[in-house]
Amino acid sequence: MSLLSRIHDKNNPKTEGSLPKQETTKERKNLTTSPSDQQPKVETQRKKAVVKQADDKHDELKDMLHKQILQQLKEKADIDTIVGKIDEMAIDIIKENESFRGTVDRKRVVDELINDLTGFGPINPLLLDEDVSEVMVNGPNQVYCERKGKLVLTDVSFRDNEHVLNVIEKIVSPLGRRIDESSPMVDARLPDGSRVNAIIPPLALNGPTITIRKFAKDPFTIEDLVNFGTLTKDMAEFLDACVKARLNIFVSGGTGSGKTTTLNVLSNFIPNDERIVTIEDAAELQLGQEHIVSLESRPPNIEGRGAITIRDLVRNSLRMRPDRVVIGEVRGAEALDMLQAMNTGHDGSLATGHSNSPRDMLSRLETMVLLGGVDLPIKAIREQIAGAIDLIIQQSRLKDGSRRIVKITEVQGLEGDIIVLQDIFTFEQQGRDENGKIIGRLMPTGVRPKFYERLESAGFSISPNVFIGDNEEWQ
Ligand SMILES: Nc1ncnc2c1ncn2[C@@H]1O[C@H](COP(=O)(O)OP(=O)(O)OP(=O)(O)O)[C@@H](O)[C@H]1O
Ligand SMILES: [Mg+2]
Repeated sequence: MSLLSRIHDKNNPKTEGSLPKQETTKERKNLTTSPSDQQPKVETQRKKAVVKQADDKHDELKDMLHKQILQQLKEKADIDTIVGKIDEMAIDIIKENESFRGTVDRKRVVDELINDLTGFGPINPLLLDEDVSEVMVNGPNQVYCERKGKLVLTDVSFRDNEHVLNVIEKIVSPLGRRIDESSPMVDARLPDGSRVNAIIPPLALNGPTITIRKFAKDPFTIEDLVNFGTLTKDMAEFLDACVKARLNIFVSGGTGSGKTTTLNVLSNFIPNDERIVTIEDAAELQLGQEHIVSLESRPPNIEGRGAITIRDLVRNSLRMRPDRVVIGEVRGAEALDMLQAMNTGHDGSLATGHSNSPRDMLSRLETMVLLGGVDLPIKAIREQIAGAIDLIIQQSRLKDGSRRIVKITEVQGLEGDIIVLQDIFTFEQQGRDENGKIIGRLMPTGVRPKFYERLESAGFSISPNVFIGDNEEWQ
């Protein structure tokens, strides 16, 4: 007889009277759980209860500390002092309340509070972790980061959408920006310069979404890039000469391919006695020279007014007697102003652009000029481009997460309607090592750039072997 039917039987008034009560109870007991069955279940329940109690106590202690912190904030204590005292406050509370002893992890509570107070809640540890270069919050329960070039899912989570929204507000409100249904997307920066984008529902279906590109405290140097294998030592010397000889250089690549990093490294090759004007949407460049004027564009305010575009800044910069203009990213109407500047004596300018190949970069520049509303024939635009840009450095993020320069291409001029491009170096993949890392190197194509004489007359003697591949580096 099954358990169910026995119980039914018991409940059945017809059968109830026929069975002695005691026996039924005993029988039922035996059927439901034998003592050995019961053990693990009780154990799990006990464990669950302990975890729940620990969670409750955790929240309770956090709440009590929170109240004390609020009180101190009301009394105008500064955050640093409060942060310095949180642990002491927690110890005092635990001393006075026996129920916390052995049930809460004090350090965890204190760390969480400090994170909430000084930083950006649960993602704070990621922001402080030097191995992490990007943080991506896709709603409260999914947080990815990029660690050493690899995208990894973290175990970080937020309480709920509201908690993520609080962090976004904490980031944007000091900048006089806001995020809500009427302006559900925002670009901002953390106090350390890290770039932040936030987008919230109903546009973001996962919940409030944050993307942070961390500001490199110690920006990569040319030595770092050589060590990473982004380029070789000889090529670094070649690019150094190109910058010093005042070539106009464009770094092209996809999102996150390392364009800004390379631009930063190239800009640091500019001699110290030149006046450099940098123009960016969010100042990311970190140059070592003394004479630098940094300009940053401005988004429109809440009423949609007051925007200052990269184009406005490029135009303005030309009236600032620059020796060099460095443009963070060219993506719109500023393309024409930049090309004109490069063609009219502002040699040695550097910029980046978003594209998948040097040829693609040229067509994008054409499109940007056209979309800028100028009525120039295509050929005239191409003349401008071919006359302005000397060198395109193509950057790429390879499948193994590494960032490499995959092409260094000379813009040789215009032939008929076509801009002539000549690769000087191209990346050749040779395989992968046991860890999946791509093995390969930038190889010279055997063609010496046309601007070689320019380098020589600027006093740089690059061995012709660098372009042929006789050099040991290339073996
Ligand atoms: N050569 C490199 N080797 C390894 N990591 C790099 C290299 N260059 C850049 N990175 C890292 O890659 C990330 C993206 O770099 P960077 O900001 O330079 O890219 P980007 O192409 O300018 O990106 P975006 O398109 O978003 O402007 C950063 O975290 C940076 O530290
Ligand atoms: Mg960039």
